[in-house]
Amino acid sequence: MYKPPERIHHPLPEARAPSVAEAAASLLFSPLALHSGLSLEERTWVPAMVPWRATEEGFVTQDILDWYARFAEGQPGAIVVEATGIRDVPSGPLLRIGHDRFIDGLAKLVEVVREKSQGRTRLFIQIIDFLRIRRRPERDRFFREFLTLTDAHRRRIEERFGPGARDDGQLRALLASAEDLLEPRELEALRYGARERVWDMHEPHIRELPRVLPELFASAASRARAAGFDGVELHYAHAYTMSSFLSALNDRDDGYGGARENRVRVPLEVFQAVRAEVGDRYTVGCRFLCDEIIEGGSRVDDASYFGVRFAEAGMDYLSLSTGGKFEDAAQPKVGHAAYPYTGRSGWECMPTAIGDASGPFGRNVGKQAAIRAAVRAAGCNTPVVLCGGINNFDQAEQYLNSGMGDIIGAARQSLADPDWFKKLRLGRGDAIRRCIYTNYCEGLDQKHRKVTCQLWDRLDLDEPDVPLTDGGKRRLVAPKFT
Ligand SMILES: Cc1cc2nc3c(=O)[nH]c(=O)nc-3n(C[C@H](O)[C@H](O)[C@H](O)COP(=O)(O)O)c2cc1C
Ligand code: SF4
Repeated sequence: MYKPPERIHHPLPEARAPSVAEAAASLLFSPLALHSGLSLEERTWVPAMVPWRATEEGFVTQDILDWYARFAEGQPGAIVVEATGIRDVPSGPLLRIGHDRFIDGLAKLVEVVREKSQGRTRLFIQIIDFLRIRRRPERDRFFREFLTLTDAHRRRIEERFGPGARDDGQLRALLASAEDLLEPRELEALRYGARERVWDMHEPHIRELPRVLPELFASAASRARAAGFDGVELHYAHAYTMSSFLSALNDRDDGYGGARENRVRVPLEVFQAVRAEVGDRYTVGCRFLCDEIIEGGSRVDDASYFGVRFAEAGMDYLSLSTGGKFEDAAQPKVGHAAYPYTGRSGWECMPTAIGDASGPFGRNVGKQAAIRAAVRAAGCNTPVVLCGGINNFDQAEQYLNSGMGDIIGAARQSLADPDWFKKLRLGRGDAIRRCIYTNYCEGLDQKHRKVTCQLWDRLDLDEPDVPLTDGGKRRLVAPKFT
């Protein structure tokens, strides 16, 4: 797990509680109309957060309904439902939307949010594609079973150990004794678990991605609309397929890699297919990275270019995130898969209270504002959602008033207190439970355990009907705001 080399402890910034009148006059609590015709009641936004509560088959559960109901009670302008898989393949307890059988459960989720927010909150769903990643193997098993012997191995063994007739078992034993004879990707498979890239052009299913992704996303969007969501968010961020097409590391040689113009093609073609499926009156936005952070990755200038292209293509909003990549992820334990939020780029995605002088609060908002400026300079007024360490009214209002962004996204602060936006609006800012940015929640996410917040998950465990986990040790939703 990455620990920033500088260990400055950043106390929470002052948080002033606005009066009801001040909140009512603020930009934060003013409405915003999207090109699709949909209007947000206010510019407050809960970005996608995976809570690990779906069934193993990807269906909505009562725990999922409780989780989103609790955010809806805070009546933010919008909630984005967690990353939801577009393929009809097993993917553990992550939500799925890759088949019509998922629609009924998702429709219930829409209903619950409508009811609990009293119709104030718009509900989007983040739709995602990801490639295969294997768990880190046991060393012996890797050399015995997983490693494919090649002519290059045989040649290198002859060079190192001299010519001679050797059976496969002997070759494998020699390779195990001389790991430097492996290819870099083979070494990676041994040390981290094998992971596919969008630029693995020798794999037919990877070569075909530009042909299959548009239809997969379009079908998922059509199901989202059938379930009653107000819109879809195309997940073009972090470590996953679409973000990898945008990455400066993408060197595909089929016109979908290399120059920025090529890297943005699949994301644009996916968007066009989705738009063709759902029409102009349905909200379609995307989340992408203001900076990949990793060595050789895309930076703000690339992201500004992508933002302009997405805006010109007709996206209804652009939501910005940072980092969260596999390339710098920590080595997992044997039997576990690498996790994209364990390296420096992961830390930049969800920065903690201990770090360098810049601190976690709005850490990457300057980069996000630069992308918005490029979009505006290109003549597009597409709303931009800011995110990363935003946790108080003055901070949010300053970003909006200075034109750095149009919508305020807050993930962990909303988890710490799902009512925080509502409390600000009602003049009860003094009652907000403030996130302390320790990433206890993220630690649970990493272990694929049900996500909760350390500030409330041990409180009032005897409350009637409160859903609990871990044999009754943790509550699954924040205590009520009374
Ligand atoms: C538990 C957890 C799960 C997350 N899951 C997602 C996700 O499914 N999709 C996504 O784009 N970001 C995800 N994120 C990242 C957040 O949306 C957000 O970008 C990040 O936490 C930084 O914002 P914050 O400082 O307001 O928390 C997750 C974050 C947390 C803490
Ligand atoms: S667990 Fe920690 S970082 Fe996560 S929401 Fe709660 S206070 Fe914030």
